[in-house]
Amino acid sequence: MFKIKEFDHNYIPEAADLFVKSYAEQRQNFSLIPEKDGLYEFVNSKLSDLSNNPGVVAFDGDRLIGYMIETRTSDDFMGERTAFSLGLYSHSSVEVDKAKIYQNMYAKLAEKWVDKGYYSHIFNFWAQDNVLSYQFFRLGFGMTHFELMRSLSKPKGSCPGISIRKIDSMRSIKKLLDEEMDFYHRSPLFWFIEKDDDFENEVEGDFIAAFIDDEPAGFIHFKINDAETQLLADKKTARIAGAYVTSRFRRRGLGTALLRKAVEWAEEKGLKRLYVEGESANIEGGNFWMKHFTPVVYTVRRCVDKRI
Ligand SMILES: CC(C)(COP(=O)(O)OP(=O)(O)OC[C@H]1O[C@@H](n2cnc3c(N)ncnc32)[C@H](O)[C@@H]1OP(=O)(O)O)[C@@H](O)C(=O)NCCC(=O)NCCS
Repeated sequence: MFKIKEFDHNYIPEAADLFVKSYAEQRQNFSLIPEKDGLYEFVNSKLSDLSNNPGVVAFDGDRLIGYMIETRTSDDFMGERTAFSLGLYSHSSVEVDKAKIYQNMYAKLAEKWVDKGYYSHIFNFWAQDNVLSYQFFRLGFGMTHFELMRSLSKPKGSCPGISIRKIDSMRSIKKLLDEEMDFYHRSPLFWFIEKDDDFENEVEGDFIAAFIDDEPAGFIHFKINDAETQLLADKKTARIAGAYVTSRFRRRGLGTALLRKAVEWAEEKGLKRLYVEGESANIEGGNFWMKHFTPVVYTVRRCVDKRI
């Protein structure tokens, strides 16, 4: 039987080792996950920075078999005091008894968080990990975001009558950017996002837009070496940082045509994969990404009863 103890900086080398092994296993299951040079050193240094945060380890005799550590807190995340364990390297365990190890590690860490008044808890984990998917679900977590990847195979389909081109200023798609804000505020997404007016003029990364009779109809926006989960950022990966098709033109293949252009653009740049992150409650966007990409990371959130 294993024991749960407080996280301590002395446990970092074994914890980093555990994570590096699990990263290699994930890459075996899903080859699009980027290869990482210096992963052990990266995790070691990240865990060292976090070693004073609340955290727990699981021991079987004198062997470390799991760890879980807080990466940060916020006093107002989605309106709640929230504790996070994100980044993928912030928790790991051996495969044997993984469900029980995670149940017990979370019970101890949650106790620490609730003692400090953090009633909202957020984790992320590998989407291919069915044991964790079920355990987090069972512990009362629900999905908020997913991160997905795809190879540079070309998505099929056609969308006649559109002209697609790279744009250097966002002025030509201002109408779409305004519409996009309204879309995110609506049900069932209810995503609170504030408009940044400077954003309209500055192009960070590359934008490709689709026009129908010179009217902007949609766009796709990407950046190289960028990801919500830092570990997935990579020089051979382009992140789709945004995509939008005006509502009356949806479901006619325009989004797919933009995606095809993104694939061609990535090919020209010698990249290997596309990455995207989105809110799982976004029906249109979520379905679109699920049709063309494979989930790689899930982010989940649990809100504990504050009366406790
Ligand atoms: C996501 C989006 C860019 C796709 O553009 P599109 O032109 O509709 O895409 P296509 O016609 O090529 O593909 C249609 C697919 O998108 C998804 N989709 C689009 N509209 C949908 C809707 N109203 N309901 C459910 N799924 C929808 C489905 O997967 C659909 O495939 P299906 O018809 O086989 O079910 C567009 O729906 C959009 O702008 N949505 C709002 C903004 C958004 O969610 N952006 C992504 C942010 S992360």
